[in-house]
Amino acid sequence: MINKIHFKSKNLTSNAGGSTLPTFPERFFWGIATAAYQIEGSPDADGKGKSIWDTYAHIPGKMKNGDTGDVAIDHYRRYKDDVTVMREMGVKAYRFSISWPRIFPNGVGEPNPKGVDFYSRLVDELLQAGIEPFGTLYHWDLPQALQDKGGWQSRDTAQAFADYASLIAGQLGDRVKHFFTLNELQNFVDMGHRGTVIKVQGKDVRIELAPGLQLSTAQVNQVSHHAVLAHGLAVQAMRATRPGLLLGPADVLFTGVPIIDTPANVRAAEIATRTYNERFLDVMLTGRYSDAYLQAAGPDSPKFTEADLSAIGSPLDFVGVNIYIPKSYVEASEDAKGFREVPTSLTHPKMGSPWHSFIPEVLYWGPRLMNSLWKPKAIYITENGCAANDVLTPEGRVLDTDRVMYLRAVMSNLHRAISEGVPVKGNFIWSAFDNLEWTGGFGTRFGLVHIDFKTQKRTPKLSAAWFKEASRRNGIV
Ligand code: FCB
Repeated sequence: MINKIHFKSKNLTSNAGGSTLPTFPERFFWGIATAAYQIEGSPDADGKGKSIWDTYAHIPGKMKNGDTGDVAIDHYRRYKDDVTVMREMGVKAYRFSISWPRIFPNGVGEPNPKGVDFYSRLVDELLQAGIEPFGTLYHWDLPQALQDKGGWQSRDTAQAFADYASLIAGQLGDRVKHFFTLNELQNFVDMGHRGTVIKVQGKDVRIELAPGLQLSTAQVNQVSHHAVLAHGLAVQAMRATRPGLLLGPADVLFTGVPIIDTPANVRAAEIATRTYNERFLDVMLTGRYSDAYLQAAGPDSPKFTEADLSAIGSPLDFVGVNIYIPKSYVEASEDAKGFREVPTSLTHPKMGSPWHSFIPEVLYWGPRLMNSLWKPKAIYITENGCAANDVLTPEGRVLDTDRVMYLRAVMSNLHRAISEGVPVKGNFIWSAFDNLEWTGGFGTRFGLVHIDFKTQKRTPKLSAAWFKEASRRNGIV
C-alpha cells in the first residue's frame, strides 16, 4: 500500500512486464528542435537576404571540410516530407527557427511576403499533422545588412529585432501560440564576438561562431546588453501586437552541478548557477544586473538605462533553456566566490562531441536550481541531445545505442525534477535531422533521423523508434 501511494505520487505507472514505467504529466510536450540555417538551404530563394552565417561559412578555413548551409538538408523545399517523417515518429511539438533575413532581407524596412509565406505553410502543415509549432525568432542568422551597420554592437539591432518579432506575432501568432525570442544568448554573444575557450581533455579549445569578431570585454558586455534588450523589447512588442501569446527565451543554462548532494554543495551550486548566468538569465528574470556582476565588471560594465531594465525584465510565460552539459561540477568553498569548481577527470565518459561529457544529472539539477533561484512560471527544455558516430548498417539501419542510452538517462533525470514539483512542461530533443553543426560541419550528427547528404535520403535511427515509443506512452522506455 505504501509503495503504491509512493509510486502514484512520483508519476509511475505499471508496465506490461510488471516493472514500473516513469510517466510524465498529461500534456507534456515530446518535442524535437531544429534551426533555420542548419537545415533549410536555399539561401537566395524567394528574395531572402544574406545572413551573417551565409557570409561566415564562405570564409576559407572557418568551417570543417568547407561545409556550408547552402544546401544543408534542403528542408526549405522538402518541408512537407519532413513534417510527415516527424508525425510518423510521434513528435508532439516542433521547435523551428525563423530566418530573420527571409522575412526582412535588409534587416529592417519592407518585409518579404514570400519569406513569411514559407513559415506560414510550414505551420499549417504541422498543425495538420497534429504537431504543436513552437517558433524561435533568432537562432543566430542575423541579417548581414544589420551586421554591416554594427550588428549586436549597435543598440538599433535590438529595436529592429522587436519590429521583426512584432511582424511575426501578427503573421503567425494566430496559429503559433508559443514563441522563443533568442536562442542561447550567452553562446552567440561570447562565441561570436570574442570566441569561448573550453577545456577538452585538459587542453584549451577555442570555439567561434559568426560573425567571428574579437572584441574587448567592455564591448562584449555591451553586446550582451543589446541581446537581452532585444529579448525584452520583442516581448513587449509581441504582446502589444497580439495579446495572449506565450513568450520566453531559449537561452543556454550554465549550471553548477553539486558533485555530491549535500546542503552546502547545493548552496554552492545555486551561487555558481546564478553567477554563470548573470549577464543573461539572471537579468532577464530579475530585471536587474546583480551588484556582484557590476562590481566585477567595473569600467567594463554595459551602459544601460532603467527603462532598458524594465523592458529586459518583462514578465514571461515560461523560460526555455538548452541543457547539454553543466558549466562545471561544484562543491562548497569558504572563499569569496562561494563555490569551487571540480574539473572532470580525463577518463570521464563522453558523448560524440569533444566538449560533451556525459553528465545526465544536469537535466535534474538545471531545472531544480532554476526553480529555486528564479521561480519561473514554467520551464521548457528547448534542447538536449548528443552527437554520435552514426553509420548505416548493410540493412540500412542506424543503431545509435549510445544516443538511446543518453536520452533515457537525461529524461529520467528530468522526470525526477518534475516529480519534485519543478514545472517543466516539455522537452525538445536536438535534433530532428542530422544537420550542419555550425563550424563542425555535417560530420557531427545530432539527428534522430539520419540524412544521406548526397541523396538527401531520410532514415529514422533507432533513437527515433525510442522516441516514438516514449512519446506514445508518455514515459521513459
Ligand atoms: C546548441 C545550438 C544548436 C546545436 C546544438 C548542438 O548550442 O543551439 O543549434 O548546434 O548546440
